[in-house]
Amino acid sequence: MSKDIDWSNLGFSYIKTDKRYISYWKDGEWDEGTLTEDNTLHISEGSTALHYGQQCFEGLKAYRCKDGSINLFRPDRNAARIQKSCERLLMPHIPTEKFIDAVMQVVRANEEFVPPYGTGATLYLRPFVIGVGDNIGVHAAPEYIFSVFCSPVGPYFKGGMAPTNFIVSDFDRAAPNGTGAAKVGGNYAASLLPGQAAKERNFGDCIYLDPATHTKIEEVGSANFFGITNDDKFITPYSPSILPSITKYSLLYLAEHRLGLKAEEGDVYIDKLDEFKEAGACGTAAVITPIGGIQTKDDFHVFHSETEVGPVTKRLFDELCGIQFGDIEAPEGWIYKVK
Ligand SMILES: Cc1ncc(COP(=O)(O)O)c(C=O)c1O
Repeated sequence: MSKDIDWSNLGFSYIKTDKRYISYWKDGEWDEGTLTEDNTLHISEGSTALHYGQQCFEGLKAYRCKDGSINLFRPDRNAARIQKSCERLLMPHIPTEKFIDAVMQVVRANEEFVPPYGTGATLYLRPFVIGVGDNIGVHAAPEYIFSVFCSPVGPYFKGGMAPTNFIVSDFDRAAPNGTGAAKVGGNYAASLLPGQAAKERNFGDCIYLDPATHTKIEEVGSANFFGITNDDKFITPYSPSILPSITKYSLLYLAEHRLGLKAEEGDVYIDKLDEFKEAGACGTAAVITPIGGIQTKDDFHVFHSETEVGPVTKRLFDELCGIQFGDIEAPEGWIYKVK
């Protein structure tokens, strides 16, 4: 059974589903958590999440397989990352089992919203933690909420597998020793203005350079960057202000072990883009979006093509999606079946 939704034409937008999970932290511990139909939160006006950005979130997807079963892709990695984000913002630890159990409960309770196999659509899951309770000073909240909701989604960038163009921003999304590696709302608030400016100029989003020297690529909007060098190496930037993308670490592995490429983290200088024959943005929402060209201050650099996906990027996409949708055998421990 699935809902009466035009699955093949879904964008990346909010659709209210039947149930969401919510758990409260008070006096040093989480309660068991429960599913609710209410998609609104009633919180104190003094909540630290509202004033001081004490909140973090995650994003992962549930995939419908050919046999009707449902896959989660590496949810243990999202659990580990939310633990790091919570630590960075002085929020309570969420045990991995609690995180995965909450995600599983939400998928099961909204099974009819998991798009059918073959439509390319998925059920996007959004776990988040917010500091709540009566407060006014700048310090950690007395209470917290951990919640998970979901929404069926299509591709994040409208072109899907068609290449998208990006423009380098003068703004930074995060500071050199700031919160760039944590998935916290403040990074995204900082990206709204540059993102809008890029879209007004018909770019998919903007590229952020390293905030210390502005010479190296860090992020592509809300996705990581990868490039395929002219001698067939998979390179993806490393920096403490980049969000450690689960997709990117998966691609590093697949590029090496399934495609036989050399694959490593390394610097990608914005004035040396001609070292790369292909480039892409990768992330849970972006999946793999080929980068057609990048607009810098005085140049528009085209990689493989502005209209066609490059062959290595396509092979990476097929391998990753094949694993996520259960058509290709996954490396040990990557797939969690929703039961
Ligand atoms: C800033 C940023 N970079 C990269 C990513 C990709 O990370 P992941 O592959 O874990 O979804 C995301 C999305 O979560 C993001 O928001």
